[in-house]
Amino acid sequence: MSELDTSIRPWEGDITALNVDVIVNAANKSLRGGGGVDGAIHRGAGPALLEECRTRYPDGGFTGGAFVTAGHRLNAKWVIHTIGPHWDGGDRGESDLLADCYRNSLQATADLGARTVALPAISTGIFGYPAEEAALIAVHTVRESLREPGHGIEEVVLVAFSSRMLAIYQRFLETE
Ligand code: APR
Repeated sequence: MSELDTSIRPWEGDITALNVDVIVNAANKSLRGGGGVDGAIHRGAGPALLEECRTRYPDGGFTGGAFVTAGHRLNAKWVIHTIGPHWDGGDRGESDLLADCYRNSLQATADLGARTVALPAISTGIFGYPAEEAALIAVHTVRESLREPGHGIEEVVLVAFSSRMLAIYQRFLETE
């Protein structure tokens, strides 16, 4: 499987509605749920997701990391919880940490042998990351990850939760 065989698709809507192998969650270091997409994923997966997070990750996680759980009541077989950087002006290493989220989430997806994965616009909500900068990092890092041989991923869905974000993804996927 090479980058050419894998499709990167922008899509607008609720990530929990997607029928993919892996849904990536924009979590926080506690890995105990929250608002935004984290809240939607925990609501969709049910209380067993929180229970698994407590058991598997008693000390939570770290920014840029990817932490696997089952999907429980979601259509997805797995949820990969990643912790994006909080935007702090842009000169505190935020762009590298955000790239780590995408890279490590796709690496974890490949390690699971999963074929389809959906990722939200990590850090662009409560964590305040500017949408355009974040989308550019997402597109570049996903493409870079898919150049790795043998990943086996067939489809990456970049999920927007607004028409503005969808248009940004579409623009970068066409021009970058
Ligand atoms: N499906 C897809 N995308 C969604 C959904 C959803 N159901 N709900 C929100 N989003 C989008 C937001 O519009 C934003 O573009 O996900 C993106 C990420 O926003 P947040 O969910 O606020 O996540 P983030 O900015 O990474 O902040 C993480 O928020 O929810 C808490 O526990 C989480 O503390 C952590 C922080």
